Amino acid sequence: MHLVLLGPPGAGKGTQAVDLAKETGLVHVATGDMFRENVRGGTELGVLAKQYMDKGELVPDEVTIAMLLERLSRDDAQTGSMLDGFPRTLEQAIALDKALEERGQRVDRVLLIEVSPDEVQRRLGGRWTCPTDGAIYHETNKPPAVAGKCDDCGRALIQRDDDKPEAIARRLTVYNEQTAPLIGYYTEAGKLTSVNGEQSPDAVRADLLNALKEVA
Ligand code: AP5
Repeated sequence: MHLVLLGPPGAGKGTQAVDLAKETGLVHVATGDMFRENVRGGTELGVLAKQYMDKGELVPDEVTIAMLLERLSRDDAQTGSMLDGFPRTLEQAIALDKALEERGQRVDRVLLIEVSPDEVQRRLGGRWTCPTDGAIYHETNKPPAVAGKCDDCGRALIQRDDDKPEAIARRLTVYNEQTAPLIGYYTEAGKLTSVNGEQSPDAVRADLLNALKEVA
């Protein structure tokens, strides 16, 4: 089963994907995390991606599609995946459909997490992440047990470079212009389920799991 998590920046895709991956056994594939790993590693891909990410722009399709398809070709993604942050353009969605079709597979369900632009601003302004395991916190909604430290590994939490106000605003515009058209694309394909993302994380997770029962 291949699932796509769709939604604006800060909708809670990463937060939910971690739990859903545990519940479903699907491998969590997050293109944003893959780019950040490359940035930290100082790879050629990381240097290129950083120029776009810091401004809140999308990394070019050609590079992103190649990275994602290579990831899906690995053993742990042969029978399914939980895609978080991909696809983000129509070109990416079409490339994904084509690649899965060649394997006799398809995108089975697209889960759209809906939140308002005001909520996005509140969430991203207060987000802290662990540079080691990617755990996601929020200074008021989901604070760590010890301020500034990861609950799991104790490492100092960091704020993402693209969580600055100008980059957040640009990410929202880019989402509306380039990613929101995917809502129509997947609705027409009969694959989209929308969930209200402005509830507690547990309530959002329950709605997402309910939506998945239709697929199983
Ligand atoms: P990416 O890392 O994918 O960022 P994003 O889509 O902007 O999404 P975020 O990670 O910001 O938010 P999220 O929805 O995962 O929310 P989270 O769970 O963290 O991409 C970053 C960049 O990489 C892009 O801008 C682009 O440059 C590049 N890129 C990536 N993929 C690409 C692609 N396919 N093509 C081209 N370029 C690409 O939650 C946010 C906060 O809210 C947290 O603090 C959390 O604790 C809190 N929270 C979560 N849920 C709730 C809730 N229910 N109630 C209250 N608070 C909550």
